[in-house]
Amino acid sequence: MIRTATIQDLDEICRIEKLCFKKERYSEEFILYLLENQNNYSAVFEENKKIAGYIIASFHKNTARIISLAVHPAHRKKGIGEKLLNSAEEKAKKLKMKNITLEVAKENMDAVNFYLSKRYKIDGLIKDYYGIGKGAYRMSKNL
Ligand SMILES: CC(C)(COP(=O)(O)OP(=O)(O)OC[C@H]1O[C@@H](n2cnc3c(N)ncnc32)[C@H](O)[C@@H]1OP(=O)(O)O)[C@@H](O)C(=O)NCCC(=O)NCCS
Repeated sequence: MIRTATIQDLDEICRIEKLCFKKERYSEEFILYLLENQNNYSAVFEENKKIAGYIIASFHKNTARIISLAVHPAHRKKGIGEKLLNSAEEKAKKLKMKNITLEVAKENMDAVNFYLSKRYKIDGLIKDYYGIGKGAYRMSKNL
């Protein structure tokens, strides 16, 4: 089940974030700041009262942006990432956004392939996005 995330979910979200990302992950303070921002879309996927994944998106002018999407490693390949992404895209469409963008580390091929399978395209490579030598692809999809 997908539901809106609240600041009570902060610990669980940070736990998943730590399991999913290494150095280039967001701090707890930053995730709290994102969750508190009512203009963002923050949602979790919950199974048996446990959070298995989350997504946070922001909206600016005509563009939605996926700030973070992560599924607990034990719960991957079950369609949870897809459900979370769909829910953010639906929200963006309701808000009349024209497109949705994101950045993903260029060596994170699991995520790049996931987005390609969801009809996102690679717009370009941003050199050193996550630090020196750590590039990211900018990807997007028209809504
Ligand atoms: C990317 C991520 C969110 C995908 O979540 P998930 O729940 O495993 O994805 P889903 O099960 O919804 O995948 C749906 C479809 O995407 C595609 N897909 C997912 N992972 C893929 C991979 N590694 N290679 C190719 N296609 C993939 C498949 O078509 C899959 O459908 P299937 O069930 O027929 O295989 C997850 O791997 C993750 O949390 N990764 C670490 C964090 C991260 O990289 N986040 C994104 C950074 S912006």
